[in-house]
Amino acid sequence: TSLKDYNTFGIDVKAKKFISVETIEELKTVLQNSYASELFILGGGSNMLLTQDVEKTVVHINLQGINIQKETEDKVLVKAMAGENWHQFVLFCIDNDFGGLENLSLIPGNVGTAPIQNIGAYGVEIKDVFEECTALNIQTLELKKFSLDDCRFGYRESVFKNEEKGKYIITDVTFRLTKGNHRFNTSYGSIDSFLEEKGVSEPGIRDISDAVISIRQSKLPDPRELGNSGSFFKNPIVTKTKLEELQEIYPEMPFYTMDEETVKIPAGWLIDRAGLKGYREGDAGVHKKQALVLVNYGSASGEDILRLSRKVQEKVYDLFGIKILPEVNIF
Ligand code: EPU
Repeated sequence: TSLKDYNTFGIDVKAKKFISVETIEELKTVLQNSYASELFILGGGSNMLLTQDVEKTVVHINLQGINIQKETEDKVLVKAMAGENWHQFVLFCIDNDFGGLENLSLIPGNVGTAPIQNIGAYGVEIKDVFEECTALNIQTLELKKFSLDDCRFGYRESVFKNEEKGKYIITDVTFRLTKGNHRFNTSYGSIDSFLEEKGVSEPGIRDISDAVISIRQSKLPDPRELGNSGSFFKNPIVTKTKLEELQEIYPEMPFYTMDEETVKIPAGWLIDRAGLKGYREGDAGVHKKQALVLVNYGSASGEDILRLSRKVQEKVYDLFGIKILPEVNIF
């Protein structure tokens, strides 16, 4: 089976075998009948770069369903199964006037993989609205609940990328959302100015979602038209001292303060300043409108993208002395 339609980079590699599971029982049966090392767990395929054929059985997590767990006058707990498409789930919440996810509109991928890297955009991260998730232990086949604390969320980090890496499959995620008394987060990026331009003075969650969708569409390529995995690199975190050194040469360098000692620098800016925005080698390229995104113009292989990514890393390191690391998982 070709995996081209199952990864947003559109890389054409093959899987030895492909199974799509729609219930937890089916998933357990698959796990019972094979060694974990023979399986490759696939969610939305939006944060991975496949560089070779997968000599394993690909298990596509296709658990569906959304339901309301608990509701009070101004709060609601909503549970979504892992295979639900992330953006469709965000739209469901907006249709029901459940607030909290609007800034995370249009992020590719599925609900079940969102906690793994604590997806975030426009000033909101999944950890801000996370109640709990359920995950299946691949070895014992037991379901375990993970609370907010258990997940140890950080910037594009969680326990599922670290201590518990490869040990669990997330089966559902529950979000704590608002009803009516929404708290908006519009200060990040250009949301405020976008709303102002549209003449929206008292925005609702749908206005914010629409703004985020427009802003994202203006710089991030649609994977259906141009293969990509969103930000290919994480924004590097450096010391304030390092920042000050660099500011002597690049006074206009943007940054976000993390804590007393550290700042996060946009990797997109570094790559752009290194002259690589729009750079292309065959069908592998650095996106023209956002240098943080690598794209597949059609027939690039995973190896082609990987080669390009290394070149980008080297150039940025040579120029700024900063190591940028991939955000996507490379297989
Ligand atoms: N910039 C440039 N040139 C570029 C790209 C960016 O100069 O080619 C500058 C921008 O002008 C701006 C700064 O870099 O001053 C930051 O750019 P932007 O606001 O577009 O955000 P980002 O840091 O590049 C992060 C996330 C995105 C998320 C946006 C908005 C990471 C790795 N990426 O990007 O997440 O949508 O902020 O919140 O943290 C993703 O993870 O796949 C993703 C798209």
